[in-house]
Amino acid sequence: MTESESPRNPDRQYRIDRYSDEKNAEVLEDLRLGDHGYKFRMLEGLVMPPYITPDRYALSRAIETRTGDICFTSYPKSGSTWLSYVLLLITRNGEAPPEDTLRNCLQWVASSWPYPRSKEYLDRLESLRIFKSHMPYQMALGGVPAESSCRHIYIARNPKDVVVSYYHFESEKAWAGDFSGPWEHWFDMFLTGQVQRGDWFDHVLSWWEQRDAPNILFMKYEDLRKDFRGQLENLSTYLGYELSPAVMDLIEEKTSFRNMKSSDFSNLHEIEQLGEFFRKGKVGSWGDLFTTEQSNRFDRVCRERLAGTGLDFSFE
Ligand code: A3P
Repeated sequence: MTESESPRNPDRQYRIDRYSDEKNAEVLEDLRLGDHGYKFRMLEGLVMPPYITPDRYALSRAIETRTGDICFTSYPKSGSTWLSYVLLLITRNGEAPPEDTLRNCLQWVASSWPYPRSKEYLDRLESLRIFKSHMPYQMALGGVPAESSCRHIYIARNPKDVVVSYYHFESEKAWAGDFSGPWEHWFDMFLTGQVQRGDWFDHVLSWWEQRDAPNILFMKYEDLRKDFRGQLENLSTYLGYELSPAVMDLIEEKTSFRNMKSSDFSNLHEIEQLGEFFRKGKVGSWGDLFTTEQSNRFDRVCRERLAGTGLDFSFE
């Protein structure tokens, strides 16, 4: 067992080293360079981060989920870390877990960094396991989601806020080749599916189309912001928990942006180079970077790509 796989070992190293190709990419030969040094690898025809390695991806596809397991999935920068803490607290009736970080409570199987987990470790974990994933439906954890025993939750966020949040997250980071492109360039890369995890529309729609399966819950970041309590009730009902009003208050308080940002349990400060992960936590911060022309162009693409799907988003 490696140190990072030993959540209850008080002696283990707390700090997670900065991502490095040599230590974490596992297969160096298939790494590619895009514009402005943007680094990635291709898996199943999609742009993926270098730390999503072929072997770990294969393990994530083959993992046998158990009844009771939970898997939350999103396109990056859609509020998945927030959702993960909410889920954890629902399953613990609001109680803090024994682990010292949120990261150590979650299993991100396809990733070699910063959450490396072996099959043996995952097999040894007692039920219930909470899995994290950023895969589109056809690449999901544990095979075909609608046919698995796992409860899946997908969270989507309006793509204007996603593209801005993602730009800050990927700029000058080792896992993205220290990408140094300007905002305008990132904007184009995003709209043409050249960023890690590929085309946002394909990703979100792949799960949206499956939203009626009984073990898939599709939710939106904006709804969590606007009506946290209602969303918490939906989530807990879906997962089979009945929470008292006091526990719901506690979960709302613990998972607020302010508290997650300041708590060493959830702020992810142990991960080198993550930067300001808890950046704005708002709906509409896209307005800080978008020009009017970019906003109009983005709106046009959204209208075209989402037409007839029934999926829409609040942007303010
Ligand atoms: P911003 O960069 O717009 O601030 P993910 O966890 O999927 O990577 O998503 C990260 C985004 O969710 C960031 O958005 C982050 O600030 C926001 N976020 C994280 N925790 C939050 C919380 N408790 N409340 C609201 N937003 C949160």
